[in-house]
Amino acid sequence: MTGAAGFIGSTFARLVAGEHSVVVLDKLTYAGRRENLEGVDVDLHEGAIEDRSAVRGAMDGCDAVVNFAAESHVDRSIADQDVFARTHVIGTTVLLDAARELGVPRYLQVSTDEVYGSIESGSFTEESALDPSSPYSATKAAGDLLVSAHAHTYGLEAVICRGSNNYGPRQYPEKLIPLCVLNALHGDRLPVYGDGHQIRNWLYVEDFARAIATVLERGESGRAYNVGGPDECENLHVIGRVLELTGRDASLIEHVTDRPGHDRRYSLSSDRVRELGWEPQTRFAEGLERTVDWYRDNEWWWEPIRSGEYRAYYERQYGRVLADGDARR
Ligand code: NAD
Ligand code: TYD
Repeated sequence: MTGAAGFIGSTFARLVAGEHSVVVLDKLTYAGRRENLEGVDVDLHEGAIEDRSAVRGAMDGCDAVVNFAAESHVDRSIADQDVFARTHVIGTTVLLDAARELGVPRYLQVSTDEVYGSIESGSFTEESALDPSSPYSATKAAGDLLVSAHAHTYGLEAVICRGSNNYGPRQYPEKLIPLCVLNALHGDRLPVYGDGHQIRNWLYVEDFARAIATVLERGESGRAYNVGGPDECENLHVIGRVLELTGRDASLIEHVTDRPGHDRRYSLSSDRVRELGWEPQTRFAEGLERTVDWYRDNEWWWEPIRSGEYRAYYERQYGRVLADGDARR
């Protein structure tokens, strides 16, 4: 597994580590944290997926590769895209070459609904054209195309899993839900981009992890599988629920300058993965409550983030300082 010190990868590692022997290759960027794998039995190698010798050292002897490694935040890709291309394009190429040369029997690329771009109504199927709109999604789409090319040209056994917006424990607080939960707990304002009527299809992270396990085991090589959550919501609705769950009110909502090129709506049809037997188990209302409880109870996890690199990021992105803990709930 690559990138398993991050949010989704560490959830997947928790799901499979008891049954399988897991080797992790992770660059340990700002989003990759050893704490995320605490209590999970894995052999962690620190290294980048674009580094050929680190990849070969970790991959040799493995019977499957699951690539989670990514720069995962759209706003950071708008500010500085070099590392996105390096990880998603060069890194994926290095992994695919190594998997082929070492004869690894199975490769799974973790991808995103964002490769299809925005859709006003209806849902994208796996046959929809890729039409990404941010440097994040464009470089993720390039990674997906490389996977398909390796399956087609070299016969590599490879599948792709495209998830919708994930949420849950251990998500780095640059993303909408953890950012708003932590700001609300601190009595700080919740920044809403533009009018806040953008729609996302929310998927609880454990549901995505189970879908990845299903596709890894039973997906047909050369195919992509969409994995959408059970509920679509406007951002303002999400934020309203966070305010309720943290005992705050709408006075904390602050409309800020919109994200450039902001996608209006994402929506996936997940019929293909359902045919493999997967169903989402967590509705948004329940998953959000669980997520808020987790952040409330796990200050040890987020406190070092809020006092580290994230403070500088927040100032750059939002043009103001992060509130400290005085008004905490
Ligand atoms: P994350 O930012 O929490 O974690 C990314 C992990 O990758 C970190 O551990 C980081 O250290 C590691 N990493 C980054 N660059 C690396 C490199 N060059 N070499 C090795 N390791 C590297 O991300 P996440 O939210 O867990 O996302 C995991 C995957 O799922 C990504 O591929 C992302 O595109 C995809 N995805 C995310 C979402 C979402 O809502 N978060 C939805 C669908 C798909
Ligand atoms: P995000 O969590 O960054 O995920 P993505 O861009 O991959 O969908 O954002 C989710 C939605 O929330 C998206 O429409 C952008 C919006 N958003 C805000 O309104 N304010 C914020 O501070 C952030 C981070 C996101």
